[in-house]
Amino acid sequence: MLLFISLLIICVPLGGDTSTISCYNDQGDAVDWFYVYKLPKEHGGKAPIKGEKYLLMNKGGEGWTDGKYTVNDTAGALGRTVGQLYSQGKNKEVAYILYNDQPPLKDVGDRWVDNSGSRGGHTKGVVLLDKNQGFWLVHSTPHFPPVQQAGEYSYPGSGVNNGQNFICVTYPLDRFQTIGEQLQINQPNVYDCDVPESLASLVPALAAVCKKKHPSGLIFPHVKTVSNRSVTLTSKDGTNFISFAKGSSFNNDLYHSWVAPTLQSNLLVQFWVRSTGILPSDCSRGWRVLDIQSISPGQTFTFKTSQDHSKWAVSTKAAGSGAGGGWVCVGDINRNEAEEKRGGGTVCLRDPVVWKAYRTAALECEACGGGTIKC
Ligand SMILES: *[C@@H]1O[C@H](CO)[C@@H](O)[C@H](O)[C@H]1NC(C)=O
Ligand SMILES: *[C@@H]1O[C@H](CO)[C@@H](O)[C@H](O)[C@H]1NC(C)=O
Repeated sequence: MLLFISLLIICVPLGGDTSTISCYNDQGDAVDWFYVYKLPKEHGGKAPIKGEKYLLMNKGGEGWTDGKYTVNDTAGALGRTVGQLYSQGKNKEVAYILYNDQPPLKDVGDRWVDNSGSRGGHTKGVVLLDKNQGFWLVHSTPHFPPVQQAGEYSYPGSGVNNGQNFICVTYPLDRFQTIGEQLQINQPNVYDCDVPESLASLVPALAAVCKKKHPSGLIFPHVKTVSNRSVTLTSKDGTNFISFAKGSSFNNDLYHSWVAPTLQSNLLVQFWVRSTGILPSDCSRGWRVLDIQSISPGQTFTFKTSQDHSKWAVSTKAAGSGAGGGWVCVGDINRNEAEEKRGGGTVCLRDPVVWKAYRTAALECEACGGGTIKC
């Protein structure tokens, strides 16, 4: 008994840095970053995939691994990470921002109302932090996640049929001011937030994003002149990500006009193709940006991009084979005309394992000028 008590005293840190707000993996370990590829519902096949399955890749891993749970389970990486928002309750020491151009459906008694908006940023994410650290999750899922008041984590049925992507990065407190500035450029539709006084002075940009929430599209007068900005965001454990954020005045294709020349890399881009004004593959001005047509992440099964709502881009070539190469970007902007004029962006990482995982997922691409080629 005495031994047990002395062990407790040694092992439980007294005060100090006891923060645990972080991205978590399927084993329940705090991780510096993870990628989740929620697979689409498989049509046909011997053992059809229901649509709640996912692949997971976290720092230190060797590529995609099968998710141990389903995306709607609070024990899995996504549920455990986002679930921290609900287990905290309203907490004076915790700040959060939930934003989505397609917020959760509103129950007005006799029916569910869809408040999806064509104004403000085409951007989706979750920010959760305390005075030490937190995470920024960027994703593609409509109507996700529930408001804090819902009291528990859930995954919407509307996000089940199609493929979806999630990138979660754990950052120390001071990065969240920069993240707030990127969000101001993105003009997100904030549908739930709280930046308590104890944190507002530490991350004023996030406090401003929370204050400016507006039911019918967002107005950020003081940042109107900034059309886009890219910044390096170093994670808690020292991994460098590049965040690209654009506003409506950018008025151009994110990938061909900005990401490819900045990373000095030709890109293959997966995005939602079931909308109007889709931009064809573009090989002009020295950069080849090709639209992906079929995908097989982790060689699970092959599906068409029309079943995948995720938005990601991968360098054609590995790092070390020319100037750019080896990049993966996951974000919230599609290649279509309307989204040239919408806020949003992408978060990029140059990591050989992540690059291989996404590069091998891209099977068929649209050639410049039309036709299908091997990516
Ligand atoms: C997740 O969704 C599946 C399919 O709808 C359901 O069978 C399962 O019970 C759900 N799991 C949780 C933890 O909600
Ligand atoms: C904004 O995007 C343009 C490309 O359209 C790029 O040349 C410029 O450097 C970007 N500005 C910032 C601040 O990143």
